[in-house]
Amino acid sequence: MAMAIILVLIVIASVLFHLLAPWHAAPAASNWGSIDTTLFITLIISGIFFIAITVFMAVAVMRFRHKEGARAAYQPENKKLETWLIIVTSVGIAAMLAPGLVVYSDFVRVPNNAYELEVVAQQWQWAFRFPGQDGKLGKSDIKFVDSTNPFGLDPKDPVGQDDVLVINNEVRLPLDKPVKVLLRSKDVLHDFYVPQMRSKMDMVPGMVSYFWFTPTKTGKYEVLCAEYCGVGHYNMRGHMIVEEQDAFDQWLNSQPTFAQTLTTAAKPSRDSVLKKGRMLVENLGCSACHSQDGSASLGPGWKGLYGRTEQLADGTSVLVDEAYLKESILDPKARLVQGYPPVMVTYTLNDDELGALVALIKSLGAAQQDNEPSASEASGPGDDLATQGQQLAQSLGCLACHSVDGSKGVGPSWQGLYGETVTLADGSTIKADEGYIKESVLNPGAKIVKGYAAVMPAFTPSDKDLNALIAFIKSKANADADASKAQPGK
Ligand code: CUA
Repeated sequence: MAMAIILVLIVIASVLFHLLAPWHAAPAASNWGSIDTTLFITLIISGIFFIAITVFMAVAVMRFRHKEGARAAYQPENKKLETWLIIVTSVGIAAMLAPGLVVYSDFVRVPNNAYELEVVAQQWQWAFRFPGQDGKLGKSDIKFVDSTNPFGLDPKDPVGQDDVLVINNEVRLPLDKPVKVLLRSKDVLHDFYVPQMRSKMDMVPGMVSYFWFTPTKTGKYEVLCAEYCGVGHYNMRGHMIVEEQDAFDQWLNSQPTFAQTLTTAAKPSRDSVLKKGRMLVENLGCSACHSQDGSASLGPGWKGLYGRTEQLADGTSVLVDEAYLKESILDPKARLVQGYPPVMVTYTLNDDELGALVALIKSLGAAQQDNEPSASEASGPGDDLATQGQQLAQSLGCLACHSVDGSKGVGPSWQGLYGETVTLADGSTIKADEGYIKESVLNPGAKIVKGYAAVMPAFTPSDKDLNALIAFIKSKANADADASKAQPGK
């Protein structure tokens, strides 16, 4: 009985959730209302099956529940029932699939008056191309792709010379004009998705896929990649701005043609190099770990970095110059700065891209160097040792693996660690006192706590920094450990 009631409640709750939940699709901004209709048909059909099957289960649980002396009957065949089940499910599945086929054939049957827009995807950015005055897109081939010709257009094709290139993640479209979208990928599978346009299609390397739509509402819409394409997939985003024809024309005229990019590419200005560097930082996700404002993060901050002498993990030091920066991008683990975990992945960039990144880091360098206090000196005179330790823990990246709230991380949490007795990997126990913690920072592999992997890199902070760290870990000790410390007279 209880089970039957629960099943019926699940059905009622699901239907109510669908009707009352505040999450609904944003209104369509294109002609593809029919895509919403097919989704609605699918929802209704699968909803009916869901309700019917769950209610049937509830009835069966009630009617055929265990009774004293009752025996189950075995019925291997029931022609009539099977015939009905086959007919009903076939009709249901056909009713879900058929409308989709009708809409899909419209989706790829492009009207004659549509203009063309090419979308080019690569890890992890978008670029766009409009045909120029001639209304035709020039030929392209992957063999022409290089840093001055990111679209791989044929430089000898006269049709392509006036093509307008949009080399960033934001594209604009005129209102109420049907557009044929041609999709191309330079590396792996991507998927061009603009939810409000109800338009979405895979981009396959070596192939040009296409669909069309007519934007019907002005506004700014998000462009998403809807196919997992590597670590930067989540950040492969852009915008589509739909605006009146006049505003669109003005914008389009401000974008370079292919011929123009070829001439300017020959001699890039400092501004364009920095701009490219910033774009790379955004697209490659560098800023997730390297700050540009001097704040602490997982990797060394770039502010004041260029021209500075850095201590390396092996105790030697290095002058941060162009060669060192390039090496650190191409082979991050080769010469690691002390205090940073070896977590950066290798990037294979071409000379132009490397040059742009180095130029950007240079522009943030040297001049600010003297104003930037190092982590251990960052605190004012009023701050106590534990606060300095906290800042160090952040800047060295300790907190990436050691929590301070008791939650489990890659390494033991610092919450309640100090003064506790811990069991080591070899089965022996040890008290987590100053001596043990110092040893664990300087030589993490020596006495590993049971259950944790030996992944921590060795840190060699100054005595002052080490004491600050320990003061911070101490401040996270358990209440009773605190109490015994706070009342020495007892
Ligand atoms: Cu591109 Cu996911």
